[in-house]
Amino acid sequence: MELSDALRTRRSVRAFRPDPVPRATVEALLAEAALAPSGTNVQPWKVHVVAGATRDRLVAEVLAHREANPADAAPEFPRSAKRKEPYVTRMRTLGKAMYGLIGIPKGDAAANWAQWGRNYKFFDAPVGLIFTIDKDLGPMSYLDVGLFMQSFMLAAADRGLSTCAQGAWNNYWTVTRRVLNVPDEDYIVCGLSLGYADESDPVNTLVAEREPVESFTTWHWG
Ligand SMILES: Cc1cc2nc3c(=O)[nH]c(=O)nc-3n(C[C@H](O)[C@H](O)[C@H](O)COP(=O)(O)O)c2cc1C
Repeated sequence: MELSDALRTRRSVRAFRPDPVPRATVEALLAEAALAPSGTNVQPWKVHVVAGATRDRLVAEVLAHREANPADAAPEFPRSAKRKEPYVTRMRTLGKAMYGLIGIPKGDAAANWAQWGRNYKFFDAPVGLIFTIDKDLGPMSYLDVGLFMQSFMLAAADRGLSTCAQGAWNNYWTVTRRVLNVPDEDYIVCGLSLGYADESDPVNTLVAEREPVESFTTWHWG
């Protein structure tokens, strides 16, 4: 696949087939993602890869915790930002499009809760990745982790695999930390589902809109 094809065709997939992904493939993707640049080459990314019984245990424990403690959704690291325009509208547009495809009526809190909960099943993907970062590192290093993740997702697309980055995994981090033995000195920053897309699921027809170049670019051109 051409790089530009991978860029244009990659989409966040939220329903996967159960077909396994070989460990060697995940290792190859990680090795390619690690070619991402990072400020002063610190390579701050750390990845916990879960599959099989560990994946199933993590999913079961997080979902059980979520049912028992519905309000316990705060991330450990300072993530929250002020809700303001134009971001709120973009977020709502995405939500509306997604819930429309799935057929969840507006205001159906129970259905919303259940659908968001699919994040914690990695949307049925056979492989999950949990990205962590040393708590002593600053915002620049978070950029590096993002670059790593994008490289990983494009490398996956190149092999016919699908992904969904999941900030959802920085909620319920106490459970993830315990199940995966994530050291106290690291934050859990993001998750990611990896597998083969279930093309028959309407949620995977979602195309998230993009703003045109002129809306976010200020030219100082000459
Ligand atoms: C850092 C990050 C966190 C995300 N977290 C979630 C998430 O928790 N759950 C989810 O369904 N999608 C999540 N997404 C996917 C975004 O909603 C998606 O990238 C965006 O809507 C653009 O759509 P596209 O990836 O299909 O182009 C996340 C994406 C990124 C980059």
